[in-house]
Order: sequence, then structure tokens, then C-alpha cells
Amino acid sequence: MSDHSVIERFRNAGQGQVFAYFDKLSAEGQKALLAQAAEIDLAEIERLNRTLVAAGAATGVNLEGLAPAPYERRPENGGDAARWAAAKQAGEAALRAGRVAAFTVAGGQGTRLGYDGPKGTFAVTPLKQKPLFQVFAEKILAAGKRYGKPLHWFIMTSHANHEATEAFFAEHKYFGLDRGHVHFFRQGRMPAVGFDGKILLEAKDALALSPDGHGGSLRALERSGALDLMQREGVDIISYFQVDNPLVRCIDPAFFGWHVLGKSEMTSKMVPKAYAEEKVGHFCTQGGRTVVVEYSDLPMAQQRETDATGALRYLAGSIAIHVLDREFVRRMAKGGEGVALPFHRADKKIPALDAAGNLVKPEKANGVKFEMFVFDALPFARNPVVIETRRADDFSPVKNATGLDSPQTCRDDQLRQYVRWLRAQGVAVETDATGLPKEAMEVSPLFGYDEDSFADAWAKLSPKPQATAGLYLS
Ligand code: UD1
Repeated sequence: MSDHSVIERFRNAGQGQVFAYFDKLSAEGQKALLAQAAEIDLAEIERLNRTLVAAGAATGVNLEGLAPAPYERRPENGGDAARWAAAKQAGEAALRAGRVAAFTVAGGQGTRLGYDGPKGTFAVTPLKQKPLFQVFAEKILAAGKRYGKPLHWFIMTSHANHEATEAFFAEHKYFGLDRGHVHFFRQGRMPAVGFDGKILLEAKDALALSPDGHGGSLRALERSGALDLMQREGVDIISYFQVDNPLVRCIDPAFFGWHVLGKSEMTSKMVPKAYAEEKVGHFCTQGGRTVVVEYSDLPMAQQRETDATGALRYLAGSIAIHVLDREFVRRMAKGGEGVALPFHRADKKIPALDAAGNLVKPEKANGVKFEMFVFDALPFARNPVVIETRRADDFSPVKNATGLDSPQTCRDDQLRQYVRWLRAQGVAVETDATGLPKEAMEVSPLFGYDEDSFADAWAKLSPKPQATAGLYLS
């Protein structure tokens, strides 16, 4: 498309302000702005403005006919132990067959943590201060050895952190993984608009662009060629997890087995909500489909509803851990008749040029960002399955600098996990009432990354060390 027709297209769409300073830009600046503009799907922006931004646009989520989603309970909570055992076997077979790849979404901006750098480079382990990326890398490396098939690992970055992420891995020699098995790709971007629907500029030669949400990962997996690579390698099971949660069992045979045996296109983990007000999404059903309803969208009265036993009715909390079928992702990415992730509106403070061309950092929200969420794929999936997991085994994210979901709570949860693994082997460990040892210790994922691998490694260990301060099992 010629430069002129790009500009013309924006003018016709009522977005001519994007080129307000065009004539004053250097040739390089003009080129940069045109390249960004060419990325924008103006029809999509027009539709989002109409449906999400315009005065009178429908707000709130449709809650009609909503009910709690069924899920597979763990054996200790009344689930069928034989089916869990069969699932584990099926998952192990899938791992031995090389059908599984790990997939981390790491495009977020980590603003709440106040950490300047890709979040995956943030140090989290109690003793060795390993960064998040290293924890995942070692789990993936160890699982590849355990099942005799090295796993591929896909990492979705953003434009802002892509180079820093790649450099970090190169500097650390991919934490022992084969370079050819680690794949990075950028997620897509969306322009931010003012409350009047006009696309904002962050500079005279640059649109205010931001990542398109973790739901953008489905498109990005397709666009980057990751799905084709998986296909060539015989991978059809994608283990999806967030970069902020070092506890995640990213290689969990039973999880993959439920997915395989259920002929599911998308399988998700739930934890029972700790209390009614807990800020997580809820697995629900609606019109025969599985959906996740965010805590901000489900009325508090409903979140507090209890059943005859006094348990929360909307108990199933989403912890953003999923298994995706490769061809399901392709179908979602390609879109088509009625198949597309919806965008969500987020009102934000967006640094932008004012009418005089000066950059303003606003004190309050001045515009809208558009984001997609991966869990919105669930209603499109065939045979979706939700399984229960123990929070202590799978979920302790680092989101805030202090308090809830902080480096401190995450460190403590890692320590409690080491203690449970040791105690299961009959080792005496001194702890407080919450299971927290007095002194730091650490288990490398290369030694054990879950209950089973830890038990096997421990059995082989001779002599057995005492569980004292500074113990590092590697
Ligand atoms: C998210 C979920 C919430 C869930 C919680 C569990 C949403 C809207 N909410 O909340 O239901 O209970 O996690 O921890 O998702 N990311 C990208 N690109 C983006 C945006 C995010 O890769 O454009 C990645 C981040 O790097 C991170 C993950 O997605 O790994 C989660 O992002 P974040 O915005 O921190 O989600 P939460 O609001 O904490």
C-alpha cells in the first residue's frame, strides 16, 4: 500500500490526527510512523470503539444462566483415584512420545512489582536467588531427561522486553537447555485510544501501542510459526503458564492425561477459592459452554453464595494454568465466523501528546487499552476439562512488591513445598505451625521438580543429608 493511501485510510476512518505532525518529521520518522500505522486494523478499532468505548456501549458481562462449572476433584476430595492414576499414565506416555511443549507468557509489564526488567529475570528462590526463567528452565530440562524426550519451550515476549529476554538467556547459556529448543516470539500490539475513540500518539512519529493481552498469545503462536514448528516436531499438547508463578508444575503428567483422555481442546486447573472475596476468575458454565468470569465481573452476592454444605458455590478459582491443543490454537488464531477472542476494555493512564504536541503524563485515566484474555478461548473449545489442583503444589505468584502475592509469600511457599517433599520421605524438619522452616534451604528442580521426581532422587541419594539451614539439593 502506498504511503498516501495509508494516510488516506486513517483520514477516512476519522483517525487523521495520527498524521498531524507527519510533514514535520524526518524521512526516518515518517517511515517509522507509516510502518506502525500499516499494522493497525482500522475496522477492528472502529468496531471496538463502537462496542466498548462509545457512550452507551454495553458495559458489564452477560451473567444470564450462569452456574458453577463442574470439575474433576482430587482423590482426597472425593475424586476417582483410578481415573487420576489413568490420567497420570496417559500424560507420561504423551511426554515419552514428545507430544508436549512448554509455553510461557512473559509479555506483561510487571508494573505492580515495581521491577524494571523482564519479569522472568526477577530472582525468586530462597537460597540461590534463581530468577523465574531459571526455575522453569530447570523444570523443563529435568522433565525432558525423566521422560527421555527434551521438550521445546516457547516464550512470548513483548516489543518492550524481547531483546532483554533473549540477551538474558544467551548470557546464562539457556540454563543448560539446548538452544534449538528455546523459542522466543513477540506478542502483538494494539493502539490505545482516548475516550473519544481517537488513536493516541506517544510521540510525533509513534502511536501509543501496548501489548494485546495474554489472549494475544494464540494469534502470536500462529503468526510466529510456532504452531508449524510444533507440528513438524510432533507436538500437539501446549502447556501454558504465566511467568510470575514459580510453583507451577509446568510439566504435570496427570494434567496432560486428563486433557488427552478427555479428548479436550483446552484443559484448565482450578483451586478452591480461599475465601469469597479472593481476586481470581471463576470457572462457570453458561448455555452449555465453559467460561471464566473475572472477580470484577461477578457480583459479590454471587461470590458469597454457599451450597447446602456451607461451601462456596462459585468455588472454582482460575489460576491461569491451561493445556491447549495445537490445532485448537490454530483455529482460534485464524478466526472466522463467530470464532474470535473478544477484547476487553481497560481504562489507563496513557502518556500521550496533547493538541499542542507536548507529551503529557496524565494523573488519571485518559484513555482505553484493548486486551484479549486467553481464558476467553474456553467457550470455543471442544470437551473442555477443569481439574482441581492443590494451591500449595501449583500457585504462588509474584505480583506485588509487598503483602499478598509478593516475593516474601512466594519464597515461603517454596520453602513449605521443600518441607512437604522431605517429610514425605520421612525426614524430620523443624517448622512453625504453617510448615515454614526456620532457615532457608532449597531444592533445585534438577534434583526434584515435583513430589515423584523428588522421591526418586531422594531414594538414590547416599548418604542422606540432614534438613538443616543452607541445605541445597541439586
Ligand atoms: C491473571 C488473571 C486472573 C488469575 C491470575 C492468576 C487476567 C485478566 N487475570 O491476573 O484471572 O487469577 O492471573 O495469577 O488474566 N501477559 C502477557 N501479555 C500481556 C499481558 C499479560 O504476556 O499483554 C502475561 C504476563 O507476563 C503474566 C500473565 O500474562 O505472565 C498475567 O498477567 P497479569 O496482567 O499480571 O495478570 P493478573 O492481573 O495478575
